[in-house]
Amino acid sequence: MKNRSFLKLLDLTSEEISNLIDLAAKLKSMKRDGIAHRLCDGKKIALIFEKTSTRTRCAFEVAANDLGMFSTYLDPSSSQIGKKESIADTARVLGRMYDAIEYRGYGQEIVEELAKYAGVPVYNGLTNEFHPTQILADFLTIREHFGKLEGKKLVYMGDARYNMGNSLMVGAAKMGMHFVACAPKKYFPNPELVTQCLSIASETGAVIELTEDPIEATKNAHVIYTDVWVSMGEPDEVWQERIADLTPYRVTKKLMYNAGGQCRFMHCLPAFHDLNTTIGKQIHDKFGIDCMEVTNEVFESDRSIVFDEAENRMHTIKAVIAATLA
Ligand code: CP
Ligand code: NVA
Repeated sequence: MKNRSFLKLLDLTSEEISNLIDLAAKLKSMKRDGIAHRLCDGKKIALIFEKTSTRTRCAFEVAANDLGMFSTYLDPSSSQIGKKESIADTARVLGRMYDAIEYRGYGQEIVEELAKYAGVPVYNGLTNEFHPTQILADFLTIREHFGKLEGKKLVYMGDARYNMGNSLMVGAAKMGMHFVACAPKKYFPNPELVTQCLSIASETGAVIELTEDPIEATKNAHVIYTDVWVSMGEPDEVWQERIADLTPYRVTKKLMYNAGGQCRFMHCLPAFHDLNTTIGKQIHDKFGIDCMEVTNEVFESDRSIVFDEAENRMHTIKAVIAATLA
């Protein structure tokens, strides 16, 4: 994948996705064994974040450092991007100084435009539509826990129209998995994307389903996956409607039992599972609920593999950088 950008999983073949996961596993074991892997020694990466981040930023910085690289972090307020300088101009400036650019922000078209003009690989660190580096981490984690991806049933509960639902569906289609989006109809993924995934599935053996019924959906699931009900960049006014619409889709102990003993809980994080966050407390005071998309009991249970998943962000992002730059 030398010199390629990593913008969305639709751009990659199943084999390329599989190779990235293999490389991530290899780099993970090298790190565990203390074997240096400065595969991109002296290279430089710019990290643009127009939305906040803990995992993605830290994963890129640590990965770049392990690979022998230098990184510059541009936060949501301290660059000219968008306000005084267009994406195309920014891309051409940064492309002259850096060997690669990571971008987290709003529309997918922005990261696509950056890639068009930069002349160096551009990596999508989350847009409204897609979060492809997260899916590599999720799939490495599923492979570690279940041995393979093919045929595994992943049920996504909640707002399936946004970056996580979309990207998991595409990833599952590419990797021959059984993907179920479980939500009220208005939160189903974009019909055009569903059609595209069904066509991919017809070649890979994947199964793609959309349902409103949590009990039916979660039966025999290997993974129940959820994400926040309101994503970054959405207005506060949507909270009331989301809580009303998505509470029946909260991941509870009952759903985990319904799935069976093999089932694991996953979440890209951050998660609203208790009252130890400012927003969690505000929502509690306004709507009287003490968790949102997942109960604290499930989040803290031994079925929850969310921190393995979070660690794997770093190993998989490292694989993307190494595969495209080394
Ligand atoms: N999962 C994820 O992308 O986390 P951050 O928003 O903290 O980067
Ligand atoms: N859907 C979430 C994902 C966070 C990693 C958001 O966009 O805020």
